[in-house]
Amino acid sequence: MDIQKLVSSIFPAETQIPPSAKIDRPVIQTQFLINGQIRHWNGSQNEVLSPIFLQTPEGAKQFVLGSFPMLSQKEAMEALDSACAAYDNGQGQWPTMSVRERIGRMETFARLMKAKRDEVVKLLMWEIGKSLDDSRKEFDRTVGYIIATVEALKELDRASSKFVIESGVMAQIRRAPLGVVLCMGPYNYPLNETFTTLIPALIMGNCVVFKPAKYGVLLLGPLLEAFAEAFPPGVVNTVYGSGEEIITPIMKSGKVDCLAFIGSSRVADILKAQHPRPHRLRSVLGLGAKNAGIILPDADIEQTVTECVIGSLSFNGQRCTALKMLFVHDSIADEFTRKFSNAVENLKFGMPWEPGVNITPLPVPGKPEDLRKWTDEAIAGGAKILNEGGGTVNETYFHPAVVFPVKAGMVLYVKEQFGPVVPIAQYSDIAEPARWVAQSPYGQQVSVFGKDPSQIAKLIDPLVNQVCRVNINSQCQRGPDTFPFAGRKDSAEGTLSVSDALRVFSIRTLVAGKKNEMNTEIFTAIMQDRSSNFLSTDFIL
Ligand code: G3H
Repeated sequence: MDIQKLVSSIFPAETQIPPSAKIDRPVIQTQFLINGQIRHWNGSQNEVLSPIFLQTPEGAKQFVLGSFPMLSQKEAMEALDSACAAYDNGQGQWPTMSVRERIGRMETFARLMKAKRDEVVKLLMWEIGKSLDDSRKEFDRTVGYIIATVEALKELDRASSKFVIESGVMAQIRRAPLGVVLCMGPYNYPLNETFTTLIPALIMGNCVVFKPAKYGVLLLGPLLEAFAEAFPPGVVNTVYGSGEEIITPIMKSGKVDCLAFIGSSRVADILKAQHPRPHRLRSVLGLGAKNAGIILPDADIEQTVTECVIGSLSFNGQRCTALKMLFVHDSIADEFTRKFSNAVENLKFGMPWEPGVNITPLPVPGKPEDLRKWTDEAIAGGAKILNEGGGTVNETYFHPAVVFPVKAGMVLYVKEQFGPVVPIAQYSDIAEPARWVAQSPYGQQVSVFGKDPSQIAKLIDPLVNQVCRVNINSQCQRGPDTFPFAGRKDSAEGTLSVSDALRVFSIRTLVAGKKNEMNTEIFTAIMQDRSSNFLSTDFIL
């Protein structure tokens, strides 16, 4: 197979795109949502270039997918003020609404969202190059997440529907919202990861200003009407544009109570530092990671290869949870690297709509050049690209590269590559990968591949104190979404899962009183009259 040739002709002519995947006209999004109103923007627009190029008589041209608004500081502050007004210091309709009603609104949103599946999936493919299968999975997983969140909240609410009487004091303890939440999601899961903070933040009674990632913006446009229809005015507000122009003033205002951000630790640090009263800001952060796969001498090679291929190259390696460094023991390095690079050679590459495709073009401008630079640096240091055609570039497409042996001192040994490059290091002493994990600035997950329970046990105990998930003979991953997703060091702040997220976006609050006759009468009357949504023993089934 001549990979160079195939890569050079990877981009289709318009006539080769199946009708169901075609974009009939540019997606010019001028809408944004503030205070329940969908407004139209007449100012400057940011052009959205798809990672997909199309063949034309003049050569391959990058497809212009559409554009989105570059709002100014004025609209950003209006969005913030709208969220503040809807929250109204906790007195607004949304934060004081009963849990049952909030759940009803969320279910309406999920129903309206489901109707937009095809539109959102198509934009996911064109905007960030995600395969049709993975785009559908992202959409369906997100709807599933909403449904699971509703169930988890019912469970939480049931547990809070009772009184606690302790040392002569009676109390009802519930979780109350934090206030105004600024939600910012990442480009690799622009729908799912954004919604894993947005949905729990909303359902707990917070009001939200929401800015999509730099890439993966248009796909949220079809959901604006659903937000406007399902939630009271001001509860969800969307802003688009340059972070410096619109996010800096929002953070500097000091009116954000919670920052939910998924992206780089560099940007998270800047945002947090902009808040004038950092002690008032709760942060929920999903940041970088460079998860290692440690392959022990007795590992089941076939199974390890399968897990490491999906672990390192699903969505082109653009997952925070991807395996970004493999350590293989000397004794099996030849066999493992050969079988691994064969498996990579068998991955299907092409356009996102092609059935069974694994490797697709990359959305971030300049990424193929960066990946090439880092692999070239490793090659200059004595490493090789093992798979045929690995590292071949055509515009936004980078053919996956298995780089071996990667050693200390090379960029790929430490850099989070976030792309289709798989660095493999060889070790003789388990102390080397163990030291690598301990010295890494990241602390998200690790995978250990092997059969000997005593060897694995010896690794588990130190590793669980370095990262937040140790995967045995399995790739690193976030799911299932009911499992805690967290990270140490530069990888995260706070824990997310369906149920943990409800806790992260709320604070335990109680109504308490000495248990005497007067208080007992007052509490009883409030509950009998159902005059409070907080002090209530109503039970949601
Ligand atoms: O980019 C990070 C995502 O949370 C990864 O999720 O492991 O389910 O692909 P995943």
